[in-house]
Amino acid sequence: MKKEEAGHNFLARLGKTRLRPGSKLATDWLIANGDFRKDKKVLEVACNMGATSIEIAKQFGCQVIATDYDEEAVEKARQNVLESKVEEFVQIQHANATELPFEDNSFDIVICEALLTMLPNDLKEKAINEYLRVLKPNGFLLTHDVLLLSEDTDELLAQLRDSLNISVTPLTKEHWKATFANCGFRNVDAFTGKMSLLSPKGLIYDEGVIGAMKIIGNALKTENRESFKKMFKIFNNPDNKLGFIAICSQK
Ligand SMILES: C[S@@+](CC[C@H](N)C(=O)[O-])C[C@H]1O[C@@H](n2cnc3c(N)ncnc32)[C@H](O)[C@@H]1O
Repeated sequence: MKKEEAGHNFLARLGKTRLRPGSKLATDWLIANGDFRKDKKVLEVACNMGATSIEIAKQFGCQVIATDYDEEAVEKARQNVLESKVEEFVQIQHANATELPFEDNSFDIVICEALLTMLPNDLKEKAINEYLRVLKPNGFLLTHDVLLLSEDTDELLAQLRDSLNISVTPLTKEHWKATFANCGFRNVDAFTGKMSLLSPKGLIYDEGVIGAMKIIGNALKTENRESFKKMFKIFNNPDNKLGFIAICSQK
């Protein structure tokens, strides 16, 4: 892994297209709970290469604005939208989750996967308040994040931050739910499960057999091996109290 390269950029470089803790299983739960339809206006925050927005556009034919703070990710997402021939439905835009460049009450659904975990708690609330502001009344917020299964996690968090090269602040189920409720969301419903970002099953489920083999092939290259091993060990250690949490809530 290059010095200072964030974990999600490292995994993207290896060929991973979904950079989230609960794989497509969690994303599919969110999509099933979000009341998606053709006439809905959707905002994706932190879309990275745009996989979820492209999937939503193909499935429902609705209008999606997909945003990310990283210019390179924005460029890659634009290319992917063109390659997937969904440019009529998906517009990619550069934006910061904590200062969204959109009017109040302008979206029916906001979806945000694996960003809030990366933000310290004050910025989590700032982003969630932005999601509340841009959602229409009764609109759905769909999020997907890392779940802590224990309160005693100082050492685990230090290892996670070290392996990912970024500061991460995952929360327990109660803490996640309370964060959304305290920001003003109602009907806060959660779906939780095992961390599957780098599990063999999760890799195949998300990327297919050929995609998973390509990722492992790249991970085993000399320049990537040590960083991948470190990440693989942390994410797949059954003693580590890590999982995923998908949350659906309503304005
Ligand atoms: C772990 S990746 C998840 C990407 C994608 N949602 C997925 O699930 O595959 C986190 C993403 O958050 C983006 N990001 C980081 N800080 C951000 C911010 N303040 N506003 C918007 N996006 C941000 C990163 O560029 C990266 O694409």
